[in-house]
Amino acid sequence: MTSPLRLAILGCGTVGSEVVRLLHEQSADLAARIGAPLEIAGIAVRRLGRDRGNLPVAPELFTTDALGLIKRDDVDVVVEVVGGIEPARSWLVDALRAGKSVVTANKALLAEDGAALHDAAADGGADLYYEAAVAGAIPLLRPLRESLHGDRINRVTGIVNGTTNFILSAMDATGAGFAEALEEATELGYAEADPTADVEGFDAAAKAAILASLAFHTRVGAADVYREGITEVTAADVASAKAMGCTIKLLCIAARGADATGRESVSVRVHPAMIPLGHPLASVGDAYNAVFVEAEAAGPLMFYGRGAGGAATASAVLGDVVAVGRNRLAGVRAPSESAYADLAVRPMGEALTRYHVSLDVADKPGVLAAVAGVFARHDVSIATVRQAPAGTESAGRGADAVLVIVTHTAPDAALAATVEDLRGLDAVRSIASVLRVEGGE
Ligand code: NDP
Ligand code: HSE
Repeated sequence: MTSPLRLAILGCGTVGSEVVRLLHEQSADLAARIGAPLEIAGIAVRRLGRDRGNLPVAPELFTTDALGLIKRDDVDVVVEVVGGIEPARSWLVDALRAGKSVVTANKALLAEDGAALHDAAADGGADLYYEAAVAGAIPLLRPLRESLHGDRINRVTGIVNGTTNFILSAMDATGAGFAEALEEATELGYAEADPTADVEGFDAAAKAAILASLAFHTRVGAADVYREGITEVTAADVASAKAMGCTIKLLCIAARGADATGRESVSVRVHPAMIPLGHPLASVGDAYNAVFVEAEAAGPLMFYGRGAGGAATASAVLGDVVAVGRNRLAGVRAPSESAYADLAVRPMGEALTRYHVSLDVADKPGVLAAVAGVFARHDVSIATVRQAPAGTESAGRGADAVLVIVTHTAPDAALAATVEDLRGLDAVRSIASVLRVEGGE
């Protein structure tokens, strides 16, 4: 066996502590797989005095000087599991420029400024791996980055946030409202004390940017992703979805398509949507993640598993560490960034989708015609119309009837303008629910 590969581990929280534990427990296997033993050169943390349980590691390895640790001559690989934009970006850029390989789980940084990391990796001739950044334990980025490089990916649809999937699954199962389901997610440790990044869709949007970049060989950043969270999803929406044979999921959707001028482009969005119960993502419950990839030659591919949690995420981190170790021993590099296609990102208004609209209306002659006229004016074709009498579960208080309309596919801008005009119709008392519908057409 050759000399050890020395790791600087930045962060020893939920993920970092499991990385340290697994490095210890599996050291012999990892060494055999790489062809060299792994050694921890140091572990950077914020608080030296924090109780870290019975971590199998010498206390003198801990430091608060992350940059000093990265710069040490005896460090070959930097594992970053701290999170956030700065100082993580500066640390990783420094490490990569110095030729040190980097393994990171930091989706926020990759989506905010992945270009800085890829450029630094190219400058330093170093490896940059980030399998854990999207969908935790699920081997997903390497298939996109390597296995599918002989194919053309047209669409990626995923459930990539475990917290929101838990909340929506609970709302679906029990009829609970958003606040009640969030409380349960917090009690069970799924949602963080500040759940904003999850419930407002920021976490999923960062992951969508990373997936789109890999799938379409194009740099897509967090700012390119249209984002809506799940805070506005109501128990009435969930009931409406059920009545349609659907369920509601927070989806990330990255799709190839033509822009208004016919030029090839991509659209990348995160929002709640109704999907039919027969859709491959409909049965993904609890805090699980799943990603459905549609490729031209391969056809549909489904990736499923745990998208979060210390051990699950550490599994992906260690897989990257093994890859990095093998590359260093063989004197080769990982595939570098592939952004040659450089496709434009379409605005949300041009994304093609379908709407489900539930209206409280007066039950009298001419109402349906007036409502249909608004759809027609915006060139939106109606697929189905259902009228429920007032007093049914989805009917609003005082309504004479509830009209449930599902459209055919149309540009999002036309659908949104239709809903805006419906608000101004005398016959429409209120709009009870507006949701996008994906799949099934
Ligand atoms: P935690 O908050 O549990 O841990 C963060 C760690 O970073 C802590 O050990 C903390 O030190 C350390 N740290 C914070 N600031 C500094 C600093 N300035 N210098 C040195 N160390 C610092 O985060 P997670 O383990 O949950 O997440 C880590 C990364 O993994 C994030 O990028 C996250 O998005 C990503 N990720 C997390 C998943 C999960 O399930 N948790 C899933 C997939 C990805 P101290 O311990 O002293 O406070
Ligand atoms: N907060 C994230 C989730 C963690 O709920 O999926 C994994 O990235």
